[in-house]
Amino acid sequence: MNVDPYEKFWMGMAAVIVAAFIGTIAYTARAYTLAPPSHVETIDPAQVMQDPRFANPGVTTLRDSTQQVVMVAMRYAWLPAEVHVIARRPVRFRLTSMDVVHGFEVAGTNANAMVVPGYVSQFTTTFDKPGTYLVACNEFCGVGHHTMQASIVVEEPR
Ligand code: CUA
Repeated sequence: MNVDPYEKFWMGMAAVIVAAFIGTIAYTARAYTLAPPSHVETIDPAQVMQDPRFANPGVTTLRDSTQQVVMVAMRYAWLPAEVHVIARRPVRFRLTSMDVVHGFEVAGTNANAMVVPGYVSQFTTTFDKPGTYLVACNEFCGVGHHTMQASIVVEEPR
């Protein structure tokens, strides 16, 4: 079979580009500890505040000293709007939405999850540096989307 040299060159280039894309995904997934959602838990979005898992949003400390942060997303607020956690200790977030899809992003960290009505988003992270972190909604959820924010105050252990 006779393949034109240009054809061969561009077939090679296409392979290089595909390899570069896959390499980029693999590298960033490792370097920034990115993972797809691995937790499937459902909830009735119309009954979130009656559900015992979300009736008392806020911070609790679990038996293994993990801090659990339960937050509810709604147009256009996070409940509670401010939580306090301790630096360098695991923090498990449990999030759900009462209405539409919201995005939970802790600015300057790798904490980032979609909050989908009907599901509980859960992930665990650790904040190394004390400070006040902005939680921004990063999924467009309506006219007040840009005002939907909360704070995570990371404190030194006492
Ligand atoms: Cu909630 Cu955008």
